[in-house]
Amino acid sequence: MSAKIIKGKEVAAEMRAALKEEVASLKEKGISPGLSVILIGDNPASQSYVKAKARACEEIGIVSEVIKRDAGITEEELLAEIDRLNENPNVHGILVQLPLPKHINEKEVLNRISVQKDVDGFHPVSVGNLVIGDECLLPCTPYGIIELIKRSGEDISGKHAVVIGRSNIVGKPVALLLLQENATVTIAHSRTQDLPSLTKQADILVSAVGNPRFIKAEDIKPGAIVIDVGNGTDENGKLIGDVDYEAAKEVAGYITPVPGGVGPMTITMLLNNTVESAKKLNSHK
Ligand code: GUN
Repeated sequence: MSAKIIKGKEVAAEMRAALKEEVASLKEKGISPGLSVILIGDNPASQSYVKAKARACEEIGIVSEVIKRDAGITEEELLAEIDRLNENPNVHGILVQLPLPKHINEKEVLNRISVQKDVDGFHPVSVGNLVIGDECLLPCTPYGIIELIKRSGEDISGKHAVVIGRSNIVGKPVALLLLQENATVTIAHSRTQDLPSLTKQADILVSAVGNPRFIKAEDIKPGAIVIDVGNGTDENGKLIGDVDYEAAKEVAGYITPVPGGVGPMTITMLLNNTVESAKKLNSHK
């Protein structure tokens, strides 16, 4: 039997339409959600991500500002820029595009962003809140993954979730969110022994490895929910995931394609976080 395809692109479009309406009604109350993105240097991938974020904001009515600085900026100058945004009441979300030039301490920079405006969910206090299950702004890709699983209609509670990858941006936070949804969670990584014995037990398999077609159909439990966070490229430069998709969709119960699966959800959750942050910062109105 062929898997149901989890169409992230369609879910993202639905969510963005709802957010657009919410932004319009917030504006009627005098609240205009605003996102500031800081882009340092001329990394082409970062430039294109930032452009996509700004365009997405514009489409739903979020006021966005891209602050571009050259790679020679000092850490002090960057921190002063963040202080300015922290104090600006029209800015509800602050995002510093990573990676940063080597002479800038990423930790210092992320720590400086006001927790209430931390729409990336990378501040250590946001991460701590996530660990203890307190309310916080959630990192966008993991949040998008949970949203996709929930919208498939399948329960997470009680399932065995296997997450492959332990990055701070995807692997660790998605494992914590699955745990919060009462899954039994296994985190696998590059040193894990006998990975197939784990993936074959996974009711929910999340792969965030970045190794094209690394997960084979025979390593997937029949009927599993398979979430592919990979975004590699094949020999023709085409975007390709971690999962051997064509074969895997004959075994899985649900599967995300690449492209059009997890990818479109990341920016959508950033928009969602900016709107949530704007509401919270204006809750006195
Ligand atoms: N660089 C690549 N992905 C991201 C992201 O999600 N947030 C930030 N701030 N930088 C990134």
